[in-house]
Amino acid sequence: MSGAVIQCLPDAVNDAARIAAQLGVPMHPIEVHRFPDGELRVTAGPAARTTILYGSLDRPNEKLMTLLFAAEALRRGGARRLVLVAPYLAYMRQDAAFRPGEAISQKVVGRLLGQAVDRIVTVDAHLHRAATIGDVFPDIEADDLSAMPAIAATLRAENVDPATVVMGPDAEAEPWVADLATRLGLRHAIACKERHDDRSVDVRFDDATLFAGRPVLLVDDIVSSGGTLMTCTKALLASGAASVDAIVTHALFPPELMSGLLSAGLGSIRSTASVPHPTNAIPLDAMLAEALRGELAGANQ
Ligand code: R5P
Repeated sequence: MSGAVIQCLPDAVNDAARIAAQLGVPMHPIEVHRFPDGELRVTAGPAARTTILYGSLDRPNEKLMTLLFAAEALRRGGARRLVLVAPYLAYMRQDAAFRPGEAISQKVVGRLLGQAVDRIVTVDAHLHRAATIGDVFPDIEADDLSAMPAIAATLRAENVDPATVVMGPDAEAEPWVADLATRLGLRHAIACKERHDDRSVDVRFDDATLFAGRPVLLVDDIVSSGGTLMTCTKALLASGAASVDAIVTHALFPPELMSGLLSAGLGSIRSTASVPHPTNAIPLDAMLAEALRGELAGANQ
């Protein structure tokens, strides 16, 4: 049995191949057959002692089942260590029962994946009430990598306008917005956001003079319905921003929304490659390969 292999979800072949090439290990796509009744038959490739499962968990329900089935086949096939690399980790937002009877999906997904694999690597996990990713996966190793160094590297190469203000849409964004701004030597600001429902939010700014007349770079972890981005773009332009561009870690929104966002005045939107999307512009493979390098030493012992 070989030392290490990457096995990926069917939609992640390109990203997984880049990481496999950087690590010098083979890569196999996991095969998924859908029966007429909707059930799945999942076929993993040959297991290695250390098997890395790669796949982002956007549109997560079928992908979660696929990973659980693949993990079963790989363990039975002899994998001693299973590492899941899920750059986008689903169901992290529902981390409490906000109304009686609501399931805490973060807990369930944490338990399911924690039983299936030995280590999880993710990027900018949406943690709110959980202090760290270790709280979600108490029984296994878990790493929550920041996309900000990769985003900063892309922007540095473009000589971003030094007048730019890095803006977060809500208080939760403060840590990553402050980090990115510091890396680039830019100022940052945070809006106040109030969410009304899945798609509708209001934003206001405590002090619009911080960005009036300057280019604004909106930075968020997730764009899902696009409501936050749309509302922020309109509000920033109405409050005097010279221009608004956006960079997000996880682009979960339907690509058709882009034309509406651009019509609202957004100059551009770019995302990391965490989820395959037409806005992908910031590669994460070097960072992910680096996080996995230590696995290779263990795999050959
Ligand atoms: C919220 O806490 C997140 O950081 C994002 O701002 C939010 O998930 C974006 O969602 P949407 O695109 O649906 O407004």
